[in-house]
Amino acid sequence: MAAGPAARGLLLLGAVLLLGAVLGAARAVVYFQEQFLDGGGWRQRWVSSESRPDLGTFHLSAGKFYGDPVRDRGLQTRENSKFYAISSRFKPFSNKGKTLVIQYTVKHEQKIDCGGGYIKIFSSDLDQKNLSGASPYYIMFGPDICGSETKKVHVILNYKNKLHPIKKPIRCKVDGYTHLYTLIIRPDQTYEVKIDNEVAALGNLEDDLDFLPPKKINDPAVKKPSDWDDRAHIADPNDIKPEHWDEPEYIMDTSDEKPEDWDHTVHGEWRYPMVKNPLYKGEWKPRQIDNPNYRGVWPHPQIDNPHYSPDFNIYSYENIGAIGLDIWQVSSGTIFDNFLITDDEDYAEDFGDETWGETKDPEKEMNIRQAEEEQQRKRVAEEEHFDQWFKKKQEGEKRISNR
Ligand SMILES: *[C@@H]1O[C@H](CO)[C@@H](O)[C@H](O)[C@H]1NC(C)=O
Repeated sequence: MAAGPAARGLLLLGAVLLLGAVLGAARAVVYFQEQFLDGGGWRQRWVSSESRPDLGTFHLSAGKFYGDPVRDRGLQTRENSKFYAISSRFKPFSNKGKTLVIQYTVKHEQKIDCGGGYIKIFSSDLDQKNLSGASPYYIMFGPDICGSETKKVHVILNYKNKLHPIKKPIRCKVDGYTHLYTLIIRPDQTYEVKIDNEVAALGNLEDDLDFLPPKKINDPAVKKPSDWDDRAHIADPNDIKPEHWDEPEYIMDTSDEKPEDWDHTVHGEWRYPMVKNPLYKGEWKPRQIDNPNYRGVWPHPQIDNPHYSPDFNIYSYENIGAIGLDIWQVSSGTIFDNFLITDDEDYAEDFGDETWGETKDPEKEMNIRQAEEEQQRKRVAEEEHFDQWFKKKQEGEKRISNR
């Protein structure tokens, strides 16, 4: 039987989608991609900083549990309480007029208590051997955890040599599994942060990062009218201080007596000690009532800010040329992998699905299996311990009854 019109339509749609996918893939420019799939090859591509002698070192590892022993290998921090600094170069580019996508995976399998999991993007001027917290950067992005207070995703952009952190709080993942972090910056000055390929935050750079002075300000020529009452509460004029309110806070304790051996040549003249007065009531304050003349907060008229001028190139950087890790970790074990810098959001999403997306479930399964095996081991050990105790007890009883 020949395919009906609906089926033919689907076929056609399929062909169009396929073509779109091919064209889309062809359009993607990948500036940097690093999956650490070639064993020790990364040592040629990544440069460890020598900015201080006591920096922590990275090694390649998939960690204690993983979805795939090879594909999940990434850069792992391996020493506790260390600064880490390492970076890699790529052919410099400008993101002017183009979308910029920065993406990577990070796994805190040590259940990190305090440490950075973020990356930095640098100009090609970066002195890799001297990479440190003082090295100027363009973009800082990714999770940061410290204690119960800090559990956030940083988005910090450099604008005219000043760093502007995002004002919106974005919570990071805190479990021990691999997570995918994506930052998208578009030429229309919108941005998007995705975690595990799901939107965690989006907005406009100008609104959410304080690059420019505000568009509107209070009109300095207009003053609040003098009769505008903006006090929500006032003292009740009918409330009067009760009689006998005022009492001293401290009084002499006349029940005390001068000690027998008091020597006034040594201790000075003896005085009654001062004690808190039980009748003291503190300062009297009239009760507060709602202000009948309250008119609310005065709405200060706004005018255009003369110091504001729009900038449609906040998002753009020249000579983007290096990516790096510059972090501090209290407990090590974090694994960084699947770095990607591209101009194509769809390519990045697919790359995320094909890397993190494919190994995340087996990774979780292995972790759960290991936990179960560990419990099983403990159970067996406990049972053995009990058996031995029971045997000893029985033998002891036998000896007693044999006496
Ligand atoms: C290393 O970087 C720091 C901070 O950016 C800078 O002050 C210092 O001069 C640099 N050292 C060298 C040898 O370039």
